[in-house]
Amino acid sequence: MRIPFVAGNWKMNTTVTEAEILVYTMLEELDQIVGVEKVLCPPFVSLVAINIMLQNSSIRLGAQNMHFEARGAYTGEISPLMISEQCEYVILGHSERRWAFAETDEMVNKKIKAALVNRLIPILCVGERLEENEAGKTEDVISRQIRSGLQDTEPISDLVVAYEPVWAIGTGKAASGRQAAATIGFIRNTLAKLWSKDIAQDLRIIYGGSVTSANVAEFISQQEIDGALVGGASLKSEEFLSIASQTSVIKSKLL
Ligand code: PGA
Repeated sequence: MRIPFVAGNWKMNTTVTEAEILVYTMLEELDQIVGVEKVLCPPFVSLVAINIMLQNSSIRLGAQNMHFEARGAYTGEISPLMISEQCEYVILGHSERRWAFAETDEMVNKKIKAALVNRLIPILCVGERLEENEAGKTEDVISRQIRSGLQDTEPISDLVVAYEPVWAIGTGKAASGRQAAATIGFIRNTLAKLWSKDIAQDLRIIYGGSVTSANVAEFISQQEIDGALVGGASLKSEEFLSIASQTSVIKSKLL
């Protein structure tokens, strides 16, 4: 049984005060939504404050990125050791890291391994760019990102994979539910070949890319899609609450 998973990726938005206000406005209601794992991923500087606010709640905390070394001369970087004191989850391999900050599959792989050493649960992001999609290379790209990202790791039973087609992120142009479900099915098959069918069957694979309260049902009502990674819409409490509660209601009917 896969517990549905909804995470808000706030990206480089919110000051500490704004982050606290955002959490304050949705804390009680979000806490009460059952049957869905709810994760907030604010910027690094807000992790400590938000961690305190989320104590005694059912809401989990995640970081948006990290370095792979535990400590050292890496000016400006944040280490897995530092975030593991505050968070349970870490987003790795987000397309904005891959394309705007030149993160390679090899670096993502090092980060995945570092997350495991530090008992952080990775949310591994994969997804093709528009030109790759149009050239029919979606499966090649995703298979490579999965295999390289998870190279030489033991099966990770709590791994979350987010399928985020790059052309759908922040563009308002989401994939269709059917399209996303087909690619997520492909991701599950790839993981089954890499590890085992049983393990792959239990992993949460979610969709991300222009998810809003208006279109989340289209994704969540697909058996294959276990939840959503939400960017822009997670910055509005009423949007994120609606996304989480729709997920709870729709998934409970599918069970
Ligand atoms: P978006 O971002 O919802 O703003 O498209 C999703 C993401 O990048 O995780």
